[in-house]
Amino acid sequence: MRIYLSPPHMGNEERALLLEAFDSNWIAPLGPHVDAFEREFAAAVGVPYAVALSSGTAALHLALLVGGVGPGDEVLTSTLTFSATVNAITYVGARPVFIDSERRSWNLDPDLLSEELDACAQRGRPPKAVLAVDLYGQCADLEPIRAACRRHGVLLIEDAAEALGASYQGQAAGTFGDLAAFSFNGNKIITTSGGGMLVSSRRDWIDLARHLSTQARDSAPHYQHSRIGYNYRLSNLLAAVGRGQLRLLPDRVAARRATNQAYRQQLGQLPGIEFAPEANFGRATFWLTCLTIDPDRFGASREDVRLHLERQDIEARPVWKPMHLQPVFAGCRVRGGDVAEELFAKGLCLPSGSSLTQGDRQKVVEGVLACQSAHS
Ligand SMILES: Cc1ncc(COP(=O)(O)O)c(C=O)c1O
Repeated sequence: MRIYLSPPHMGNEERALLLEAFDSNWIAPLGPHVDAFEREFAAAVGVPYAVALSSGTAALHLALLVGGVGPGDEVLTSTLTFSATVNAITYVGARPVFIDSERRSWNLDPDLLSEELDACAQRGRPPKAVLAVDLYGQCADLEPIRAACRRHGVLLIEDAAEALGASYQGQAAGTFGDLAAFSFNGNKIITTSGGGMLVSSRRDWIDLARHLSTQARDSAPHYQHSRIGYNYRLSNLLAAVGRGQLRLLPDRVAARRATNQAYRQQLGQLPGIEFAPEANFGRATFWLTCLTIDPDRFGASREDVRLHLERQDIEARPVWKPMHLQPVFAGCRVRGGDVAEELFAKGLCLPSGSSLTQGDRQKVVEGVLACQSAHS
């Protein structure tokens, strides 16, 4: 059986909740499970307000809209991320400016961010927002990032799509930004098949996002609209699944951390292999376990290993290709970029799903070792 990178891992409770939602005939993108999922999610993360949406990308889009980001504005963001982060910036007509990663966490480098903010201020054109990504289940170094944003009066949005369950200095991912987006896409640590959540401590922003996510209907008995709206609300059926999944979050984090630990023990001593570090400022979930492979020292490249695993029916993926190297974002400004480029060239994500068995893990480890032997 194929070993996937990060497949959905469903429990019994969400099945029961889904059937209950089905039987109640609340099949629309509203209903008791949507309200309850928002309440329970906000409590679990430790934020006052949350709105359940159809995807993490929708959550990012609405975060930018309610934060007042618009045409011609600049938004500083991590170059090492998934394209959804940057696509959302373009949806509101803003321009992304890419910032390199730091080696400590593979996330947005706070020093480079500070330099770019200073440079923007000197030009008399401060950006409208910073969109900081918490990559692969680990928070960015959020304290200096937030301090730099405050110094320049710039909005901070956290893309915590990959980091539900992670923490920074004991505080949950998604609670540092003025707004934060989460994803429940099929590969995430908990899933609703597709879905997202926007959170904030500002009630007016979450109320506005909820309004925009339901076609911006004014309160009138007829259909009246004063703004452009979107069809971004999460279905009640999927919210039921989300409630069940959320209850399992601590187990899911423990399972992914255990997998990371096991891979480190068995592969960490090999020459040329380095695991993505867990920075001492926080606790990662290791949503995906990532490592870099130095081909000169290991004897085989990242691609050699990936293809070798693929032949054993094991899915591994290269680390995100930096956004400043993407054809679609050619011409966008970038500060630094070498670190992200190196992480892309050498980085591999190993199967990390919480349903992975010890036997599956063993096959992955043996695959990596066999690839090394085959190339030596
Ligand atoms: C960093 C990051 N941002 C945003 C998203 C978008 O989330 P969604 O797929 O729910 O739209 C994802 C994942 O898919 C992601 O990994």
